[in-house]
Amino acid sequence: MSKPLGIGVIGCGNISAAYMRLAPMFSGIEMRACADLAAEAAHARATEFGLRADTIDGLLAADDIDIVVNLTIPAAHFKVSRQILEAGKHVYSEKPFVLSREEGAELARIAAEKSLRVGSAPDTFLGGAHQLARHLVDSEAVGRITSGTCFVQSPGMEMWHPNPDFFFQPGGGPILDLGPYYLSNLVQLLGPVKRVCAMSSSAWEYRTITSEPRAGETLKVETPTTIHAVMQFHSGAQITYCASWDVWQHGHSNMELYGTSGTLHVPDPNFFGGEVRMTEKSSFTNGTPAWDHPFGRTNEDGRANYRAAGLADMAQSIINDRPHRCALEFALHVVDVMTSILASGETGQFVEIETSCERPTALGIEDARRLLA
Ligand SMILES: NC(=O)c1ccc[n+]([C@@H]2O[C@H](COP(=O)([O-])OP(=O)(O)OC[C@H]3O[C@@H](n4cnc5c(N)ncnc54)[C@H](O)[C@@H]3O)[C@@H](O)[C@H]2O)c1
Repeated sequence: MSKPLGIGVIGCGNISAAYMRLAPMFSGIEMRACADLAAEAAHARATEFGLRADTIDGLLAADDIDIVVNLTIPAAHFKVSRQILEAGKHVYSEKPFVLSREEGAELARIAAEKSLRVGSAPDTFLGGAHQLARHLVDSEAVGRITSGTCFVQSPGMEMWHPNPDFFFQPGGGPILDLGPYYLSNLVQLLGPVKRVCAMSSSAWEYRTITSEPRAGETLKVETPTTIHAVMQFHSGAQITYCASWDVWQHGHSNMELYGTSGTLHVPDPNFFGGEVRMTEKSSFTNGTPAWDHPFGRTNEDGRANYRAAGLADMAQSIINDRPHRCALEFALHVVDVMTSILASGETGQFVEIETSCERPTALGIEDARRLLA
């Protein structure tokens, strides 16, 4: 095996702990240093995970760092990723990696000019459950998928995140914040989207934080928090997609795909695992095919959590000179779909999607094993 690539992190907030904790599970990557606008945040994570705390400039100039993971807030993703590329390093960003097609095209231009890679979360579609769904769609286990539904609805984020402001600013909201999980999975299963239409609203103009340490503070809501969209895929499938942070409780499944000979129930694409259920015509089959996928196994708090799988896949793709799965073209198409849904919500018009992408290569059981240390 070649030497692992050195990983540095910019943005040492909430999610950085998961990357730092889970990275040692994978081969091809070695977490080495971290930096943040707030030096104390970098020092705290460095101490917790035995890394080097650095300044942002120091990390970007470091010879032992090949890929920089951008875990800053959405509004900073583009600027920080551009800085990383300009420093001559590959970048892997949290979602959404940009907030517009133009920003994505600019990163693509710099990356091509410098022969660097850009990758983006989410990587949950590489999870065992979603790769089983992929296998079932590709093998036409329920025939051709003609339609489906996707629901991601909750009361919001201000009751758990310590710093929830960014969720309610442009760049946040249930479409740009959570949409990447659901739309990436739909695009990996069904291929690119052709056109969308949507309606959007917000139940509240202001919301009160109930999580510590800022409980009692008020937030202004500056992006829609309830969006109902319909998407038409190039495959011909049409999917209803409802995303909201104004719903206390609902009874819809996260994702259902209706095929010409049966139905596929896909578990929550926000997570790697879960149960895939399938019907033959209207009857549930007795379980799904045997599928012991490494990224479907429970490993943390009763769930399968393989966050950083997409980063490891990108590192191994660089080492082995092959395309990576959480690729810029794929993530940019998803951003295009999300921003088009928001635009349709504002104008009431259908929006034709200008970008397209290849589906990421399926990650079979053996492929997933190779990503693990
Ligand atoms: N928290 C989660 O459970 C979670 C899960 C999945 C994905 N994400 C995504 O990860 C990203 C970060 O989320 P988080 O919850 O860790 O946010 P956070 O607010 O907890 O942390 C963000 C960190 O980035 C730093 N930062 C902001 N702008 C910066 C800049 N320009 N340069 C350097 N550092 C900067 C902040 O100081 C902060 O420490 C978001 O895009 C979010 O959508 C979060």
